[in-house]
Amino acid sequence: MTRRSCAIYATGIVCAHLLIVGIALLVAQVFQTMIESRLKQEITLTEKSQVFEGWKNPPPPVYMEYYFFNVTNPEEFLAGGKASLKQIGPYTYREYRPRENITFLENGTKLYALNPKTFVFVPEKSAGNPEVDIIQTVNIPFVAVMNELNSYSFILRTLVSMYMKSLGIELFMSRTVHEVLWGFKDPLLTKIHSMKPEVDEYFGLMWKKNGTHEGEFVFHTGEENYLDFGKIDTWNGLREMSWWSSNQSNMINGTDGAVFHPLINRNELLYIFAADLCRSIHLAYVKDVEVKGIQAFRFAPPNDVLMSPKDNPANEGFCVPAGDCLGTGVLKVSVCREGAPIVVSFPHFYQADPKYINAVEGLNPNKEEHETYLDLQPTTGVPIRACKRAQLNIILKRVQGFPKTKFINETIFPIMFVNETATIDDDSAAQMRTMLLIVTLVSNFPLLIVGLGVILLMILVVLFCRNRQKKVRNCMSVFLSKMLQSDKGNTWIQK
Ligand SMILES: *[C@@H]1O[C@H](CO)[C@@H](O)[C@H](O)[C@H]1NC(C)=O
Ligand SMILES: *[C@@H]1O[C@H](CO)[C@@H](O)[C@H](O)[C@H]1NC(C)=O
Ligand SMILES: *[C@@H]1O[C@H](CO)[C@@H](O)[C@H](O)[C@H]1NC(C)=O
Ligand SMILES: *[C@@H]1O[C@H](CO)[C@@H](O)[C@H](O)[C@H]1NC(C)=O
Ligand SMILES: *[C@@H]1O[C@H](CO)[C@@H](O)[C@H](O)[C@H]1NC(C)=O
Ligand SMILES: *[C@@H]1O[C@H](CO)[C@@H](O)[C@H](O)[C@H]1NC(C)=O
Ligand SMILES: *[C@@H]1O[C@H](CO)[C@@H](O)[C@H](O)[C@H]1NC(C)=O
Ligand SMILES: *[C@@H]1O[C@H](CO)[C@@H](O)[C@H](O)[C@H]1NC(C)=O
Repeated sequence: MTRRSCAIYATGIVCAHLLIVGIALLVAQVFQTMIESRLKQEITLTEKSQVFEGWKNPPPPVYMEYYFFNVTNPEEFLAGGKASLKQIGPYTYREYRPRENITFLENGTKLYALNPKTFVFVPEKSAGNPEVDIIQTVNIPFVAVMNELNSYSFILRTLVSMYMKSLGIELFMSRTVHEVLWGFKDPLLTKIHSMKPEVDEYFGLMWKKNGTHEGEFVFHTGEENYLDFGKIDTWNGLREMSWWSSNQSNMINGTDGAVFHPLINRNELLYIFAADLCRSIHLAYVKDVEVKGIQAFRFAPPNDVLMSPKDNPANEGFCVPAGDCLGTGVLKVSVCREGAPIVVSFPHFYQADPKYINAVEGLNPNKEEHETYLDLQPTTGVPIRACKRAQLNIILKRVQGFPKTKFINETIFPIMFVNETATIDDDSAAQMRTMLLIVTLVSNFPLLIVGLGVILLMILVVLFCRNRQKKVRNCMSVFLSKMLQSDKGNTWIQK
């Protein structure tokens, strides 16, 4: 054997081994499986895990933008006309939401945590000064009291109505944004408080919500099953709610929206329990997106989430009392708002029945501004960008005994909407990109081996040709033409 043929022989053996090993690894997905089981192990809520710190103190800034609907023609509305609304805002607050009082339970398979939220005003992201700007909106305490009195006698209602009139309390109120949000001493509630001390004198949409939590949560750590990572086990000690009218609607499903299990696929539904909506909702895959150089899946609540039970019988459980249903796109949450006729929807009644949109003047629902979505990095399940948008409305209707309401057409009246957004911070994004690069490299390692094998194969071919056809310059073409001839019976190797 010459040195040259010896080299060819050695290269051939190495090449064959690389190709066999590489293809075997590719087929068996050894590295893929290895990475996946590593991710399932790492992404848990245990003290030593990589994700625990980020879960405890989420680094991305969360902004809460409040928009209000200023009513410009209350007299016209009370006379039976359409209300005309003007959107004002945003009034933006930075939201801090650390996890506190963390306690591990049941051998560390579950953990207890509180999630108090603190709001700090951000003037440079706001349209005005909430302490100064005055909005005219529905007097929510008045409507709540009226609604409550509906079950009492006509005489009592008439008396209360006259008393309220003497106090000068109207169906619409003018208050500063700060008052409507963070609370003010309401004259009507103060009177009731003097008779029934359990009724709070103060009213505000976010009254007592600054620095407080939405309940005691127990989460699964995900150590036992990666699909349970961050899932809620109990909320305020409950496994399910009891205020809705079906067992399915009462279920507390999924996570609290801050984390999701790793290895998300496009076909699954993701469940979130939203304490502020008093229910669980689900999200479905919409499309692939890219945020700060990270590939993500966009998930959004599909149409059926707030669909009328006529079109989606599964939603019948959200009619309380059973059978008392509203149309598509609105959810009555009186059950968890002390009976007040509060309704939530998407902003501007996006995805709702047009009759709600047309009942008032000034709404213009559109996808870009009013949809809710969540962009998740599918390998790790980490939310890269989130945008939660919800509108608060109140049902206004005629109440016997209150002459002011005589001409009102029953309306789901928009009060305000909020846009809660968070985008991954640059540091976390850089870390995430590095990590994903490593994951990609490792899981594609077999391809590297196969690639090396292919390169060696090409070198082998070149060496082989040089050896056989020293005089021919273009070795490759000869090689190829010989290959092509080979099916005519005279294989080039035999020659
Ligand atoms: C809201 O409307 C009232 C009356 O129409 C007006 O006085 C007030 O300035 C408006 N508020 C804002 C913030 O534009
Ligand atoms: C009030 O309701 C009646 C009957 O539902 C309807 O015909 C009328 O157009 C409504 N008025 C307004 C101003 O929406
Ligand atoms: C949480 O911990 C703080 C002190 O760290 C304590 O004052 C508070 O009562 C705890 N809250 C609950 C609900 O256990
Ligand atoms: C905790 O672990 C111990 C020992 O492994 C076991 O005996 C016990 O049943 C476990 N307790 C729970 C609540 O899982
Ligand atoms: C909420 O509480 C924090 C700290 O207690 C305070 O700095 C902030 O101004 C409060 N926010 C509002 C809107 O009152
Ligand atoms: C709902 O759950 C309760 C308790 O688990 C059960 O008793 C009841 O039969 C269930 N109702 C329906 C309609 O399945
Ligand atoms: C909770 O999840 C179950 C499936 O696990 C589903 O059937 C049910 O509709 C969900 N409930 C809500 C309120 O999303
Ligand atoms: C929040 O939503 C409003 C309208 O819905 C939009 O104008 C605003 O840009 C959004 N803010 C962020 C941070 O996306």
